[in-house]
Amino acid sequence: MPQIKILVTNQKGGVGKSTLSANLAGYLSLEKKLSVSFIDFDKQSTSYNLIKKYSDHQIAPHKAGLIYQQNSNLTLLEARSIMRTRSGQSDVVIADLTWTFGLPDTFLLDFDIVIVPSSNSVVEVASTEIFLLEYYQKNSIKFNLKRQYVIVTPSRIDADNLSNLEFEGLRFIETCSVGPVVYRIPHINEFITKGFLCHSDNPVVSENFLEFGDFVYQKIEQKITESQESKRVEIVNKSVDRQNYENYFKGLPQVDAASRVRPVIASSIEKAPKSTLLDLIPAFLRKK
Ligand SMILES: Nc1ncnc2c1ncn2[C@@H]1O[C@H](COP(=O)(O)OP(=O)(O)OP(=O)(O)O)[C@@H](O)[C@H]1O
Ligand SMILES: [Mg+2]
Repeated sequence: MPQIKILVTNQKGGVGKSTLSANLAGYLSLEKKLSVSFIDFDKQSTSYNLIKKYSDHQIAPHKAGLIYQQNSNLTLLEARSIMRTRSGQSDVVIADLTWTFGLPDTFLLDFDIVIVPSSNSVVEVASTEIFLLEYYQKNSIKFNLKRQYVIVTPSRIDADNLSNLEFEGLRFIETCSVGPVVYRIPHINEFITKGFLCHSDNPVVSENFLEFGDFVYQKIEQKITESQESKRVEIVNKSVDRQNYENYFKGLPQVDAASRVRPVIASSIEKAPKSTLLDLIPAFLRKK
């Protein structure tokens, strides 16, 4: 399978990035038997320490606290070099990173799937929308070409407060979805000291993390299918080129370029909804 790169990020602290990323690694390793490399870009190494705490897995965790320099392109080069050298041959690479504007947002484009945990407070929903819309606005061509998947994950949500889970402002981005809610776990330390949450002996906790993991796994499968389809079509195109070459020397007519099978990626871009300027304004700022 092609290696799938997943980034768990948000500029907001304490939203559950490390808990989600480490437990996603646990789910993919234990439940789906995938080989997983894990890169913790945050200096406090929370997710690295969580993974190190358990022994029932084959995950390769790496500590790689980024140093933010004045010239942020150096940080970008450093982050990319860490991704290249630490990803190994694993099926999936998961990176945990607190987003900062010290890093150019082109780094986000290096990933197949970006998971953005967010609470459902009005302020945080708005700041998550602004973060993603700014990124999309600046990079929409590459974003659409890559068909990057963005999964907004409502995280640490109180079961009795299930409001503001729509993230309306992001609806027009075809490959953006709101994933399953990850509920607030009271006394979470009692659970995370024992092992990955998808294998918790509390069925409510394990079910919630299995649901989150299953959702991400579906997206991984979709990404793999898409990359295989676009490869298959590329090969077809190449053989048509060769046919033209042979026809030329035999004096036969050439194959009309318009009748060639077109790469899947091109047709999916055509399907993408056309965004209007209004779409790029966060929902809470639009006039009702
Ligand atoms: N679903 C949850 N229910 C209850 N507590 C949670 C949940 N997810 C995370 N926490 C707790 O919230 C705190 C912050 O979580 P975590 O470290 O995963 O967030 P973070 O976004 O990585 O934070 P930071 O910005 O500091 O890196 C931790 O104490 C963690 O145990
Ligand atoms: Mg963290």
